[in-house]
Amino acid sequence: MVDLNNVSLFFLFLTLTFLSLAYFIFQCYSGPPNKNSCPQSYPLVGNLVGFLLNHHRFHDWVADMLSTTPSLTIQVNGFLGLSHGICTANPANLDHLLRSNFSNYVKGTRFRSILHDLLGYGIFNVDGDLWFTQRKIASHEFNTRSLKTFISDTVQYQLSNSLIPYLSTACDNHDVIDLQEVLSRFTFDNICNVAFGVDPAWLDMKRVGETSLVSSFVQAFDYAVEVSFNRFMLPLPAIWKIKRLLNIGSEKRYKEAIEIINEYAMNIIRFKEENCRNDDKQEKNQDLLSRFNHSASNLGFLDQDQKRRFLRDIVISFILAGKDSTSTALTWFFWLIAGHAQCERLIYEELSAASAEARLASFSYDDLKKFNYLHAALSESLRLFPPVPINSRLTISDDILSSGTYVGKGWFADYSAYAMGRMKRLWGPDCLEFRPERWLDDDRVFQPRDQFNFPVFHCGPRTCLGKDMAYVQMKSIAAAVMYEFEVVAIDGGGCRERIANPPYVLSLILKMKGGLPIRLKRR
Ligand code: HEM
Ligand SMILES: *[C@@H]1O[C@H](CO)[C@@H](O)[C@H](O)[C@H]1NC(C)=O
Ligand SMILES: *[C@@H]1O[C@H](CO)[C@@H](O)[C@H](O)[C@H]1NC(C)=O
Repeated sequence: MVDLNNVSLFFLFLTLTFLSLAYFIFQCYSGPPNKNSCPQSYPLVGNLVGFLLNHHRFHDWVADMLSTTPSLTIQVNGFLGLSHGICTANPANLDHLLRSNFSNYVKGTRFRSILHDLLGYGIFNVDGDLWFTQRKIASHEFNTRSLKTFISDTVQYQLSNSLIPYLSTACDNHDVIDLQEVLSRFTFDNICNVAFGVDPAWLDMKRVGETSLVSSFVQAFDYAVEVSFNRFMLPLPAIWKIKRLLNIGSEKRYKEAIEIINEYAMNIIRFKEENCRNDDKQEKNQDLLSRFNHSASNLGFLDQDQKRRFLRDIVISFILAGKDSTSTALTWFFWLIAGHAQCERLIYEELSAASAEARLASFSYDDLKKFNYLHAALSESLRLFPPVPINSRLTISDDILSSGTYVGKGWFADYSAYAMGRMKRLWGPDCLEFRPERWLDDDRVFQPRDQFNFPVFHCGPRTCLGKDMAYVQMKSIAAAVMYEFEVVAIDGGGCRERIANPPYVLSLILKMKGGLPIRLKRR
């Protein structure tokens, strides 16, 4: 999911940049120069640019550093002591940070001030009671079986009405398509259906090229995320605050984008209100927004507008959560499968065995539950390519982690899910191999890992609420696509060497660089 909290990754990134810079300079002045690690010229910008050119390796670089420490934890001291923090890949420390001493590690004020314009008081951006209330409502709603069937029905409907027909056309025309882009449109469509009961018909081919309400919303949303993200990058928060005050440049366009986003979200809410009045059938209102609205009735809102604003924040948070997370996960999955013919065969066999009952490429919620090998393959792909690669908290008071590491008040405390998935000490010497079998017991039944060893969906009280939904989406899409087509990656797919050195973008979400160009072959 798009967790904006992870923008602190950029803070860590900047801090580490400064740290390495300081280190290089220190080396340059204190020892014999080494041509490789210490460039001959010392202009700060020069070194910085050199580092930025290597930033595609950022997560691997962090993983390398973490793996050399006995505690799987590093302390990070910022340039000129401007910031301090730790970064860990140690499961015991994760348990401490995210569960046993949960109240000492929060999102904090910096995130709130930066993200408030976009997220308001939505679940991602708040701590304490404001978070707890929303969490209680949401976790109740997310755990009903009726929601799960609703999700899987919605996914199935969209699969047979938009994705599979779209792919069939591409297949017949021998087109090369960007699977990452196609999947991301699909999941945006899906989150709108599931969360609000509104279909933006985003994949509808007739609409391509047309500027619809939806596409201006998506554009505004992506822009707002980008600007929020850049706010974190600035060395001084005063810069964006002054720009906002003067209403100039990116802050001016940002404000316009926020208006478009809020207007669109409010339209959804008004649309639901009108539909609600004309319609007494309860089954029609299975979507999350209706459920939230129902549960929020007794939260004691002062007036209707206040309640609407609350619902609007919910709408925006869910879009943020559901827009790119599952599509990114699936992109890496298809890439890995394209490079592992044996795994592909095993998945296809599993699907074929079920399809005696399941009609063509349409698998029910109960069918999906039986796919142990597919579940294992998806988990294995998430281990190597967690959509949220690094995450961060702010420390309230001084504390000592399980590994004995000291964390001071006001420090950031980060964990790298990416590094943890690639740690020999956690997964064994074959940790860089894509091997779904490691998740299966002797009877080929899926065995989940302890959450602190596999924090892809976060851990503890703030664990991802959409995990089950994400698996239903991923399994339905993977099953439908793989049952109909063989996906041929133009680059040959994710083999062992590429897994160790993968093409990712350094951003909130671990997207594949340049997308995933593929061709399809019919089964
Ligand atoms: C493969 C897909 C997904 C992954 C890897 C993922 C991962 C995560 C992570 C790491 C967090 C922790 C964020 C933080 O507090 O810092 C989170 C939170 C959350 N996720 Fe997901 N997510 C996925 C899909 C979804 C979907 C489809 C939804 C549904 C709308 C969703 C809803 C949420 C919500 C509501 C939270 C906030 C929980 C809270 O703060 O109490 N996620 N997710
Ligand atoms: C929320 O519930 C109230 C009362 O049940 C209803 O009048 C209103 O239309 C609902 N709003 C939304 C956005 O579903
Ligand atoms: C949790 O953090 C507090 C600081 O707020 C510290 O005093 C306490 O010892 C920690 N608790 C545990 C169980 O480590």
